[in-house]
Amino acid sequence: MIGRLNHVAIAVPDLDAAARQYRETLGASVGSAIDQPDHGVTVIFITLPNTKIELLHPLGTDSPIAGFLAKNPAGGIHHICYEVDDIVAARDRLLASGARVLGEPKIGAHGKPVIFLHPKDFTGTLIELEQV
Ligand code: CO
Repeated sequence: MIGRLNHVAIAVPDLDAAARQYRETLGASVGSAIDQPDHGVTVIFITLPNTKIELLHPLGTDSPIAGFLAKNPAGGIHHICYEVDDIVAARDRLLASGARVLGEPKIGAHGKPVIFLHPKDFTGTLIELEQV
């Protein structure tokens, strides 16, 4: 069911410092910061030859990643995103298997439908599925 790895999202306490490290120390192609108020994050996309990295930083007072950064003050991998062909079919298959799907499909950071799967059902990893 799952296809390519779409991105790995890393929550960071200092967006500028993280962007500079990826650009200058690691030599990656780093985009500019994009505020996504609907998602409560500011994002920087890093394009690698085979996937993307998303640097996430809280935006606003009710950010979904604020708690994660409180527990992981140095930052850390927040979620990984796999591609699927059909988000509704994927959700139905996962629900039928007993997995916890967090919310209804909604439009994600790339303008495409996404769902999130509970980390306790997937070896401690928050999984995002994105329909491509
Ligand atoms: Co994501």
